[in-house]
Amino acid sequence: MIVRPATTADVPALADLAARTFPLACPPGMPQVDMDAFIAEHLSPERFDRYLADETAEVLVAEDEIGPVGYTLTFLREPYAEDLAALVTHRPTVELSKCYADPRAHGTGVAARLMEEVLQRARAAGATSVWLGVNGRNLRAQRFYAKHGFTVIGGRRFVVGRHTEDDLVLERVLTD
Ligand SMILES: CC(C)(COP(=O)(O)OP(=O)(O)OC[C@H]1O[C@@H](n2cnc3c(N)ncnc32)[C@H](O)[C@@H]1OP(=O)(O)O)[C@@H](O)C(=O)NCCC(=O)NCCS
Repeated sequence: MIVRPATTADVPALADLAARTFPLACPPGMPQVDMDAFIAEHLSPERFDRYLADETAEVLVAEDEIGPVGYTLTFLREPYAEDLAALVTHRPTVELSKCYADPRAHGTGVAARLMEEVLQRARAAGATSVWLGVNGRNLRAQRFYAKHGFTVIGGRRFVVGRHTEDDLVLERVLTD
């Protein structure tokens, strides 16, 4: 298994992986139509092309012998909303916008390798923290982030289709 920056050649497989794994982060009962709307808006091949062309964004892909098995999307920029900018106190900061692994890779260390790479690259880029939002009912991801040194700094509303979800906002300070 390797972790590497994604290229345009990865886009079809990445969009497919993203569409398959996004529902895993949603709470039970979230209507399919709302998840589909989010996927169409944020995780389409065209969107991944835009992420790859965005100088503030970085897409990492974890790949095993079968193909892409996990990915992350980060942004090195100011938090995208004023209330988040007030919560996240360290600068420069990196937003970990997406962190997803195929179910076949859960519990295998693939996501941990992705996270190590995200933290190392954030440090190398001069960031002093990494922040993210996670659904308040996504206990597995919350546990994963806690294991990697993230702590809760507040909350945000997160729109999925016609739904607004309550997310926790977490930050990991990069001290070393
Ligand atoms: C979040 C994700 C990347 C983490 O990867 P992973 O391989 O599952 O992570 P790990 O196995 O290292 O850690 C998960 C931890 O949650 C625990 N866990 C699993 N299910 C859980 C549950 N329902 N409630 C609480 N903890 C749970 C695991 O036991 C493990 O903790 P442990 O190592 O102390 O035993 C992966 O689960 C994933 O892709 N999930 C679906 C998408 C998602 O939610 N992405 C995050 C969006 S913010």
